[in-house]
Formats: sequence, C-alpha cells, structure tokens
Amino acid sequence: MSTKEYELFNRDTTAIIFGLQANAIQRMLDFDMACNRDKPSVVAVVNENKEGWHKVFWGEKEILIPMYRTTRRACEAHPEADVMINFASFRSAYRTSMKAMEEDSIRTLVIIAEGVPERRAREIRNKALTLGKTVIGPATVGGIAAGAFKIANTGGTLENILEAKLHRPGHVGFVSKSGGMSNEAYNIIARNTDGLCEGIAIGGDSFPGSTLFEHVMRYEANPNIGMIVVLGELGGREEYKIVDALNDGKISKPLVAWVTGTCAKILPASIQFGHAGAKADSNEESADAKNEALRKAGALVPKSFDDLDVLIKETYDKLVKTGKFKPAPEITPPPVPNDFSKALSEGLVRRKTEVVTTITDDSGEELLYAGVPISRFIEEGGGIGGVIGLLWFKKKLPKYATDFIELILVLTADHGPAVSGAHNCIVTARAGRDLMSAVASGILTIGPRFGGAVSGAAEMIKGAVDEGLSPAEFVAKMKAKGKNIQGIGHRVKSVRNPDKRVELLKDYAARHFNKTEYLNYALEVEVITTKKKDNLILNVDGCIGILLLDMMCELGFEKEELEEIIANGGLNGLFLLGRTIGLIGHYMDQKRIKEGLYRQPWESILYSLPKEKELETA
Ligand code: ACO
Ligand code: LMR
Repeated sequence: MSTKEYELFNRDTTAIIFGLQANAIQRMLDFDMACNRDKPSVVAVVNENKEGWHKVFWGEKEILIPMYRTTRRACEAHPEADVMINFASFRSAYRTSMKAMEEDSIRTLVIIAEGVPERRAREIRNKALTLGKTVIGPATVGGIAAGAFKIANTGGTLENILEAKLHRPGHVGFVSKSGGMSNEAYNIIARNTDGLCEGIAIGGDSFPGSTLFEHVMRYEANPNIGMIVVLGELGGREEYKIVDALNDGKISKPLVAWVTGTCAKILPASIQFGHAGAKADSNEESADAKNEALRKAGALVPKSFDDLDVLIKETYDKLVKTGKFKPAPEITPPPVPNDFSKALSEGLVRRKTEVVTTITDDSGEELLYAGVPISRFIEEGGGIGGVIGLLWFKKKLPKYATDFIELILVLTADHGPAVSGAHNCIVTARAGRDLMSAVASGILTIGPRFGGAVSGAAEMIKGAVDEGLSPAEFVAKMKAKGKNIQGIGHRVKSVRNPDKRVELLKDYAARHFNKTEYLNYALEVEVITTKKKDNLILNVDGCIGILLLDMMCELGFEKEELEEIIANGGLNGLFLLGRTIGLIGHYMDQKRIKEGLYRQPWESILYSLPKEKELETA
C-alpha cells in the first residue's frame, strides 16, 4: 500500500482481480518474479460464480490464490490490497466498479472493459474524485511501475518486459491513451534512456477515469522521475491542460510530447480513429494544433513521431550530462521459469514420453486410427470391422475380412440369460448396481471355460499343426496331459443339438475364404472328441478362433505377428466386444422390468456340511 500522493504502485502493492483471468494473473506473478518481489502482487480473485482457489505458478512452485464471490469478502480478507483490476465486461463494469470504490481499502481501480457508456464512465470518474481514488480506464491495458508492479497484461510477454527493462525502475514517466502505443513506447524509452519508472495507459474513451494531465502532475511530484513523455491523440482538449500547466510553470521536468493523428488533416472529413475519443471535432482538437500548442508552451515536440526516439534520447542524455540523476544500474533479472507447454512448443525443453501408442493419434487436427484420418475412413465406407482391423491389427482389412469380423460380433452378442456372463450381469443389475458394475460383473465370467477360449483354440490347433501331429495324436496328447482342448465342448450344444452360430461361421468361410486348413484340422479333431461325448463339438469360441487363424494366414500376417496376437489373447477380444452388447441389453432389460434382488432358491442348493463332531480341533 502506498502512502505517497504521487505514487500509485510500489514493490509492496498488492491487487485483487475481479474476474478469473488466469493468463493476466500469471503474467503479473511472473513479472513479480522478474522484479525479485518477495511476494505475489495478486492476493485474491473475485469470481461471482464460484468461491474457492485459483492455482498459479509462483516461480517454479504452484500456489493457491483465494477466490471470493464478492468484492466485499475479498477486501475484508485482504485489506492490504489497495488496487482492484476489474475485468468485468462492459455490461457489468459500471456496477462492479462503483461497488469496488465503496471499499475503503481500494485506492486505485483499473477498468479494462471497452464499451462502457460515456454517462457511466463520467459517474465512475466523479465518484473516484469524490472519494479521492484513482481510476485508470475504462478501455485500458493498465500500466506499470517498473521493477515494482504491473497491471494485468501491460507490457506484453515476459520477453518483452525484460527487453524493455521493465523489471527495474529507470527515470522516465510515461502516459498515453493507448495500450498498444504504451508497449511500443516502453521499448523506445528502454532503447534511448535508462528505462521507464512508471507508465500509464489511461484508455481511449472520451471520458477516462483519470487524465493525461493528472498523471503528468503525479510524475512532476515523483522524485524518482527525471523526465516525462506524453503520447496524446487527436480529439478532445486534454492536452491543453498540460499546455496550461507548462505555461503556469507547474511542470519543471523536461516533458517530451507527441499527439498522434496528424495524418487526419489529409483525410476528407474528421474521422473517428481507433479510440472512441480519437475524433477531432474542431481544428483545436487536431493533432497539429495540439502539438503546436505544446511546443509553444515549452514541451519538447518532435517534428514527427519518427523523431520521437531521437528527442527522448537527447533529452535524457542532457539530464544525465547535467547531473540531474545517475542512470539506473542494469539489473539481471532472476530466471523466471517458462510454462512447460510453451517451452515445449518452442522446442526449448523436451521430456521423455511416458506412453507409446502406435495405433491412434488425437493430438492433431483430426483423429487418426493407425494413421488413417477418421473422416477419410468414413468416406471410404469404413465400419466397425474396419476399425477393428486398424486399431487391433493395424491393417486395412479387405471387405470379406471386415464382414467376417462383424458377423462374429453379431453371433457372439448374446446367448440367453442362462449363461455365466448374462447371469452375473442380471444378478448385479437386480442388486441395484449401475450399468458399468453389471456389465463388468458379466465380463468377469469370460475366461478359459466361457467365451475366453477363442485365442486358446487358435493357439492349440496351430501348435498341433505346426508340430505335425495328426488330429488323433493331438487329442491323445491333450488327454494324456489332462488338458481340455480349447474350443471343444459345450454345456448344451452337441452333435444332436448343433450350434447354429458355428454353422453360420463355417458357411461364411466356405463362401469367402480361399482355404480353411486349420478349420479342417479342427473338424477332424471334433470327429474324434464327439465319439467320446456328444457335447464335445467344435464350439463357437473354437470356430471363431480357428477361422480367424485361417483368415490371418490368408491375409499374409507375418508368423511372429500372428503368434503374438494369438499368444496375447487378443482374439478373445472379439467375444468380449460382441458379448458386451448383450450384457448392456440384459442390464437395460432388468432395469426396464424392475426385477427385485435375486436370491438363489434353496432347492437349487445342495447343502453338504460336515457334522460338528467330525470337525478336527487344532
Ligand atoms: N477337451 C477334451 N475333453 C473335454 C473337453 C475338452 N474341451 N471338455 C470336456 N471334456 C471332457 C472332460 O475331460 C470330461 O472327461 P471325463 O468324463 O473323462 O472326466 C468330460 O468331457 C466332461 O467334462 P466337463 O467339464 O464336465 O464337461 P462340460 O460339458 O461341463 O464342459 C466346457 C463344457 C466347460 C465348455 C468344456 O467343454 C471346456 O472346458 N471346453 C474347453 C474350453 C472352451 O472351449 N470354452 C468355450 C465354450 S463356448 C463359449 O463359452 C461360448
Ligand atoms: C455362449 O455363447 O454364451 C455360449 O456358447 C455358452 C453357453 O453356455 O451357451
């Protein structure tokens, strides 16, 4: 908090930000770091929609800035903050600004919004004058006290701040209407003097909260400022107050001034330049007239804007030469960490990746499946079989193969409520659990006996063929090992009650595959096993796995690739994917019919407990 009349900001100034402006807040804190401040200049945020915390970087560490719903709460919690930077839109800037000025602790109010109605702007200024407060804006980027405090985005990026030596105070006081011109001027001043002490952009509206003249008079009173630079604009009479003060001898420091808009004279009528106030309605308000009046009153006015830098330099050098002040020492700012994402995008840093994917990329403009843009995939008529080809096998599969995959999904979608997966799903749904839990419960039953024998069947049959075993030798070997052949056997399907799904799969292969070497082998195995038991048929898992094996061989899958796919159990994914459709259906069905909690009927349970007297005591 500053107690000096002429000083709005110093190294202890802290601010409350109205509106959650994450970038502006971070830029202020990074500026604080560059100035070697010992504390952040932002102490609170007012966010009318949400109370809580706003996370920011303080150097390389993260800190939390409290967020309040009202300005009153923020000021009560942070009475030391005497600046409010109001980012409210033009619709609410008036209301929120008037409220802020009612807080005794707020001494300086910055209003960023453009488009605040003139009547409202005048009311804001009148209230500020009555309360002895300073308003900067509306329609401003703010201002900066070099080496001490920066308002929001003033000065631009940190690189520009450092280039303009704004991280430490020089001896020049600057004021203009335009934020853009201010940033440009800070660089001109840094190149031609020892830098800025304070710079203010009052905003381009016709009725600013504070005027060029008022800031000039603050600079006149500030002992740390040796010279003053003013950038005016055509339109209005503001600069004539400076002329009067010069004529009255109230400004003793060298004042370099330029009023922009001299080009207006060559244009047909008085036109509105960028700012609301930049329109000369009379000759007196023209840039030329103002420049001439300033020059006559003793201000240092260059012949054109292009000569401004030379005049600034001459003025500064003269002051130094006559011992008015010693140039400010150059200070190397401490390193301010760059945002990682920014540094990464600029190639300044790199990091090891944590995850590798070779199948999908969402980081660019369009999602890629195995390198194929999703829009092109759709244009080419791609369906779920094609997506599986790309995302599972990283291949553009031919239509007969994608159709085969889709046939598998259709045939495995469900097999009635009696099977393990459906049963668990139904019981879980009836226990009142959600979709994910019920489907997960069903999926957990998929394994070597139910639905999870697709890969195993392919692996076993391929192994037998690769080993050169006859089907009889293979069956005998499995028997000797006491191992069930994966893909053989079913609880209810049998030779007498064939599985239509298996028929459909075999029929499809017969019509579309060039050869089915592995299926033929499996069918010879089935002949042997069904001699032992009627239900030891080639089941749907086996048929799927073995025909996929035939298909991958036909499509030229490399041996290693094919064996890798089989060994990692990936082919079971087709049963899993297909059956998930049915499980979701069972869940929705149970919710639809609102069945209550399932309880196993007693008569369906065999109770076979030991007699208590048989229990061995330890
Ligand atoms: N290979 C060799 N012998 C078998 C096989 C098999 N796949 N399946 C059962 N048998 C034998 C058993 O060894 C047993 O012989 P035994 O009487 O001499 O002891 C006899 O047949 C009965 O065995 P059970 O396990 O009681 O038979 P069940 O009909 O209950 O088994 C099952 C059905 C679980 C599918 C079984 O055949 C099996 O484990 N198959 C291999 C795994 C598989 O393919 N699962 C997918 C099923 S289809 C699907 O889930 C969509
Ligand atoms: C299924 O697809 O769920 C079945 O083949 C298993 C079964 O027991 O019917």
